[in-house]
Amino acid sequence: MSHLIIQIAKKKFADKIVLENAHLAVAPGEVVSLIGASGCGKSTLLRIVSGLEHEYSGNVQLDGVKLSGVTRNIGFIFQEPRLFPWLNVADNISFDIGKVGHDDVRVAELLSEVGLTGFDQALPKQLSGGQAQRVAIARGLYTHPKVLLLDEPFSAVDAFTRIRLQDLLANIAKVHGITILLVTHDVDEAVFLSDRVVVIGNQPGTVVSDIKIDLPKPRERETQSLLAQRAIVFDALHAAHVV
Ligand SMILES: Nc1ncnc2c1ncn2[C@@H]1O[C@H](COP(=O)(O)OP(=O)(O)OP(=O)(O)O)[C@@H](O)[C@H]1O
Ligand SMILES: [Mg+2]
Repeated sequence: MSHLIIQIAKKKFADKIVLENAHLAVAPGEVVSLIGASGCGKSTLLRIVSGLEHEYSGNVQLDGVKLSGVTRNIGFIFQEPRLFPWLNVADNISFDIGKVGHDDVRVAELLSEVGLTGFDQALPKQLSGGQAQRVAIARGLYTHPKVLLLDEPFSAVDAFTRIRLQDLLANIAKVHGITILLVTHDVDEAVFLSDRVVVIGNQPGTVVSDIKIDLPKPRERETQSLLAQRAIVFDALHAAHVV
């Protein structure tokens, strides 16, 4: 059963068509990576799903309901943490437009989950890049969303931190059964984390390849089966002239 249905008939910026007939159906709890050339429209697609971008033709449905704006059912994690510098970690995590005060129990639970217990009073400037992104992940989960959107969430951190954050995301997917749409340029990251890797072609952006990564989880890195999937994704990227 598909619970997230994305049907973007056309998305233009001025006269330029950025996305055309970009269709994707995602099952509950599925982890889907979007991969494609720079400028092909991946971030635009995520922004449409999030409700931040609403000038397009087509429609996006979550559990049979057409989305028409930002909703607490969808969390969004960006490339950089985008924390409010004047708010401490607890207030950043629980920042929820229209709500006053926060749920301390929920904040503590999320801090524990992202490995930052005791950091609730810290200010963003006191955090490392990786810690700040953990806070952003906790904030994305605060409203118990059904869907988490991540736009190159780990590309600004060092390689070791990146591995740890990927493990964290794999664990979140497992524990919460949350549906995940992840934009990445990293093929290893995509095959390690995903149930499906979707290649977006360029000009205009559309789905050109949809590759099922049918391997059990939790996964080990660098296994032969994962490397075989990696090769399949690279073939698709070559065919789509992404690389
Ligand atoms: N607000 C905007 N106004 C005008 N053009 C835009 C706007 N946002 C994006 N674009 C254009 O739309 C196209 C798709 O941009 P988008 O950011 O979705 O690409 P992307 O696939 O996420 O690229 P990258 O991998 O570099 O992040 C690009 O040509 C970009 O210049
Ligand atoms: Mg982008």
